[in-house]
Amino acid sequence: MTTSSSSAADALSSTDLSAIHQPVLLDTCVKLMLPSIDHDGAVAVDGTLGLAGHSQAFLAAAPGVHLIGIDRDEEALGLASTRLERFGDRFTPVHSSFDRFAEVLDHEGIDTVDAAFLDLGLSSLQIDETDRGFSYSTDAPLDMRMDPTQSLTAADIVNTYDLEDLTRIFKEYGEEKYSYKIAQRIVDLRDDTVFTHSSQIVELVDATVPRYKRPAGNPAKRVFQALRIEVNGELDKLRSVLPQIAERLTVGGRIVVESYHSLEDRTVKGFFTLGTRSHVPQGLPVIPDELKPYFRDVSHGAIKADEDEIARNPRSASVRLRAVELMAPLPDHAHSDFSAWVDGHLAGGGGGHHASRRETSRRDQTGTKKNQKTYKRRAR
Ligand SMILES: C[S@@+](CC[C@H](N)C(=O)[O-])C[C@H]1O[C@@H](n2cnc3c(N)ncnc32)[C@H](O)[C@@H]1O
Repeated sequence: MTTSSSSAADALSSTDLSAIHQPVLLDTCVKLMLPSIDHDGAVAVDGTLGLAGHSQAFLAAAPGVHLIGIDRDEEALGLASTRLERFGDRFTPVHSSFDRFAEVLDHEGIDTVDAAFLDLGLSSLQIDETDRGFSYSTDAPLDMRMDPTQSLTAADIVNTYDLEDLTRIFKEYGEEKYSYKIAQRIVDLRDDTVFTHSSQIVELVDATVPRYKRPAGNPAKRVFQALRIEVNGELDKLRSVLPQIAERLTVGGRIVVESYHSLEDRTVKGFFTLGTRSHVPQGLPVIPDELKPYFRDVSHGAIKADEDEIARNPRSASVRLRAVELMAPLPDHAHSDFSAWVDGHLAGGGGGHHASRRETSRRDQTGTKKNQKTYKRRAR
């Protein structure tokens, strides 16, 4: 984890940045964040700072808030820092992954936060940077790392994962019907081919998925999504960060999350449900405080973008925005519930940790396992 300076930013102006990445559901996010951060001394964390479209609006709307902006991508962090220069020391940029949430707060000497915001996935800048290999429409090295200092790339996965693991990630993370056939073809071709470029995967999927059974759009879309999620450990990191945020939230504090595919949204919904539902056994005449819900669903389910926004910004079409407010100090059972949920032993939807041995050891390189320990230590 490093604290970034704005010197990394290139010459792009603030106007350029808002044209590159339009923040999704911006007004709604500000409205959801504001009640918890509009007071002197408030602290907010934007765990996915990106180009700071949302953070800029939070800082402008809440003059008393100090905002910590985390991003894995140093380039985004540099550009965002330049954009937020006018807020002076009210903004602290941190180069890290959001699943190091507790560690970042400890490093900054912050005990509790009033709000945390996550706008998951990639920024338009990252998608448009063709050499990073996120897009299936342009040939590029098979990379897909949000943080280029991380070691695992998409090429490593395609060239080294076994048939079972490839099938699993295409199925779980891409919801791809032809997972096994695609994985089998990759493994067969590996005898005399090294996969280095995205076009090889695009061509392979094109040759594998029957034409008459293809969903709309590029047939490689799901495989690319799956590889990106695996490279960046996206679902594991999301599962790890949500309890860490809840553990450090002040009463009245809020968690606001924008998801862009069903796997993320299911995870967020599942975690929020742990606190919005009542834990009362049937027939109990008086509800002890310990068993009452501790989260209030302030978004009333998932908020979607309207037609106007989708027309202006097609990226908003898949957004699902959910937010909760912490109504009371976490009851004792919440800490063990969180640990069980992260480990996949608790229902609530979206929990579950299906990592294979290989995936788990890969994750060690990127820090997730370490941070789950960080969370568990606090939760005990
Ligand atoms: C959708 S963009 C955020 C855009 C931002 N809200 C804005 O309006 O400019 C998501 C950002 O989150 C970052 N990101 C994704 N996963 C991350 C993680 N685990 N930790 C830190 N940053 C992450 C990406 O690098 C990307 O810059």
